Amino acid sequence: MDDDAFYFSPAEGFARLADTYDLRLSGNPMLLLETSQTLAALPNVAGKAVADIGCGTGRYAIQLMRLGAEKVAGVDLSPAMLEVAQHKSHRAELPIEWGVGDLAEHIPIPDATLDAAVCALALTFVESLNTAFAELSRVLKPGGVLVVSELHPLGLTLERAASSAVFRKDRAPYLRFTDLQGQECRIARTPHTLADYVNAAYAAGLTLTFVAEPLVDTRLAVTFGHLKEKIGLPLALILRFQKCM
Ligand SMILES: C[S@@+](CC[C@H](N)C(=O)[O-])C[C@H]1O[C@@H](n2cnc3c(N)ncnc32)[C@H](O)[C@@H]1O
Repeated sequence: MDDDAFYFSPAEGFARLADTYDLRLSGNPMLLLETSQTLAALPNVAGKAVADIGCGTGRYAIQLMRLGAEKVAGVDLSPAMLEVAQHKSHRAELPIEWGVGDLAEHIPIPDATLDAAVCALALTFVESLNTAFAELSRVLKPGGVLVVSELHPLGLTLERAASSAVFRKDRAPYLRFTDLQGQECRIARTPHTLADYVNAAYAAGLTLTFVAEPLVDTRLAVTFGHLKEKIGLPLALILRFQKCM
């Protein structure tokens, strides 16, 4: 462990990160890949009831509303992240319903009411995927679609150990940031494998229908020089599931 850093739970850490989260997103190459593939994996949401779970500052909830969804909910563990999201939707006059909820316990959405849900970059902060997928499945209608995005497990490993591409479940990587006071902060992640995601989803009645592993290509490495060493490696993992009828 880095002795000078502060280590936080997701609830504490995201409270500290909320004010600057959106600023940190811009120019992130992983996010460029993740966003295009996540949007591509979504079904047509026009006129549908949808949700962004682990929504943070509302990146996908706002997008879903702009794509014509009739009803959009955004749920997150962190009231501070939701406050930023609410401010943005209020300013843009988008009627999104925001709510505090913990994927590891309970999402405040009634059973079988959603046509589709997105859970982006949130599940590495949840230890028990079984509970999280059970909740995500519970809120979907039969035939409903769930799109999950994550840092690719290999990318997570490389972030921690640049010299090794071996996935180590016992080596927890962190979301690292420097707060406004200059303090180094870490939020612990749980590194789940692709099998962990697929098996937990399957146990919750969700079938895998699509996988994307967008790779660092030469074009991206030209724009982001530090990725030159990672050409050919996957940065993001996007999974689409369908709830059994
Ligand atoms: C990296 S941010 C991603 C936010 C947003 N989905 C995006 O893609 O920009 C991770 C988010 O997951 C939320 N989160 C972490 N653990 C959670 C849990 N158990 N239940 C609900 N949200 C959680 C955090 O509060 C944070 O807002």
